[in-house]
Amino acid sequence: MTINENYPHINAPAYVLEEKKLIKNLEMLREVRDEAGIEIILALKAVALWPVFPLIRQYLNGATASSLNEARLIKDHMGDRAHVYAPSYRSEEYELLAATAQSITFNSLSEYKRHYPSLKNLNSSLHFGLRVNPGYSEIDVALYDPAGPGSRLGIHTLTQLPSGITGLHFHALCENNSFTFERVLESFETRYQQFLPDLEWVNFGGGHLITEASYDIPHLISVLKKFKERYPHLKVIMEPGSAVAWQTGFLKTTVKDVIDTPDRKFLMLDISFTAHTPDCLEMPYNPAVRHAQFGTNGEHVYYLGGASCLAGDQLGPYSFKNKMQAGDHLILEDMIHYTLVKTTMFNGVQHPDIGMIDRADQYKVLRRFDYEDYKNRMG
Ligand SMILES: Cc1ncc(COP(=O)(O)O)c(C=O)c1O
Repeated sequence: MTINENYPHINAPAYVLEEKKLIKNLEMLREVRDEAGIEIILALKAVALWPVFPLIRQYLNGATASSLNEARLIKDHMGDRAHVYAPSYRSEEYELLAATAQSITFNSLSEYKRHYPSLKNLNSSLHFGLRVNPGYSEIDVALYDPAGPGSRLGIHTLTQLPSGITGLHFHALCENNSFTFERVLESFETRYQQFLPDLEWVNFGGGHLITEASYDIPHLISVLKKFKERYPHLKVIMEPGSAVAWQTGFLKTTVKDVIDTPDRKFLMLDISFTAHTPDCLEMPYNPAVRHAQFGTNGEHVYYLGGASCLAGDQLGPYSFKNKMQAGDHLILEDMIHYTLVKTTMFNGVQHPDIGMIDRADQYKVLRRFDYEDYKNRMG
């Protein structure tokens, strides 16, 4: 198969979700949920593709929101009230928040004091929680470390449970395995176990990369079961995002031009990394490119040039077996989680379509963007 034979029926640029792969992940997550007797909810910040919410809801218990907009999307398209955690809340949003949330978690005691009375007043069935910092994490990149030095996320010292608080939440993982989770849980228990008998629920956050090939699912289930044996009265919630959409689709892009500079040879693409795959520059990381290798160990070495005027809008080097030319297509792998939710229209670069290859292998475009989308962001 040559590169140009990749999905000829799909117009580039396009993010393409593969439904069968999503279902496979969802089946794994449902198995963990049922075996361990916990609830698993989708973290919307990673995947907000609402056309597939009804599918996701068949396997998971609902979703968690980090803003009112996310909570509304959950209510509108999953039919559930959202679990909500945000670093701070806005009093202008109380009514809608109280109508769309089932639980609200505060990042600090001052946020609790500021908002709890009004929210409780508006909806007495709401559950309230506090986010605490477990004081332990194993994440190398500071940008993605919610419990590392200098963290503003979660209460560091809790001496007593304020009235009305029925749950504690922590989030200290990022693409971690069950053994790291076990160590974080141990630190959480050491710090906060005195409060656990008085609570109704705990939320172990996201970052559990349960659907990654090497993840030890039986070990996770045993950690969760042991926790439940210690605290049988507690409802346990996990809220992965990445794991739901891990390896479930790609970004198809077209080579528009091939240029030689004194230092580098570029494939100039119709997508922009800063606008369409921002994590590649923020983390930074080099995504897998189908039929190419990262590095210079191949015959034809190119950098990938983004379509914006940002100097650093480039990735590479990548080695290709064949000489590349304008009109060729590239497939960037694993481009569903934390991409669609983070894109911008910087430089007015054409936003890729969002599409899906469904379980019957039919491709359909879910969304195409145009000039009006660009214009409407500004006025
Ligand atoms: C509070 C919270 N919950 C859940 C998640 C989802 O994490 P992941 O997508 O890594 O599973 C995040 C990610 O930032 C988060 O901040």
